[in-house]
Amino acid sequence: MAWKMIVAATDGSERSIAAAQFAASLARECESKLHVVTVVRPPEGWWGIEGAPPPPRAMSEAVVDARQSILEATMSKLDQTGLDITTALEIGEPSGTIVKYCEDIEADLLVIGRRGAGIIERFVMGSVADRLAHYSPCPILIIP
Ligand SMILES: Nc1ncnc2c1ncn2[C@@H]1O[C@H](COP(=O)(O)OP(=O)(O)O)[C@@H](O)[C@H]1O
Ligand SMILES: [Mg+2]
Repeated sequence: MAWKMIVAATDGSERSIAAAQFAASLARECESKLHVVTVVRPPEGWWGIEGAPPPPRAMSEAVVDARQSILEATMSKLDQTGLDITTALEIGEPSGTIVKYCEDIEADLLVIGRRGAGIIERFVMGSVADRLAHYSPCPILIIP
């Protein structure tokens, strides 16, 4: 079994960066492509239940910039030697958007942290991780 297309989802948290580092080592080992993806969750009521999200430029630049820095922070913690890395900033609800991203690029492995940047510790696993564990279109690796 070879993982040829690996996705690491990052929200900038220590755990998601650890997950991305794990994904990077695996990608090097398997000579696979690596996609590092972060999803910007738009503010409540930003768009209705129906229809497609508005284009990224419609969203507050500050939010996009903040997420851009998350992507950069994650990349700066990765050993990129010999890797073919694509970064992506997507807009939407994180878990659904990550699922769609994995489908679109035909990922064969998704790597995430068990928790992220959230501050509510009601459950052992974060809600994005929980949803992805249920709905990921490809095998998923959850880094504790
Ligand atoms: N907005 C996001 N964009 C990309 N990946 C995310 C995002 N939110 C969470 N993740 C991924 O899901 C993992 C678990 O995060 P999450 O379920 O949100 O836990 P928490 O509730 O602690 O924030 C993170 O380590 C990261 O890999
Ligand atoms: Mg979270």
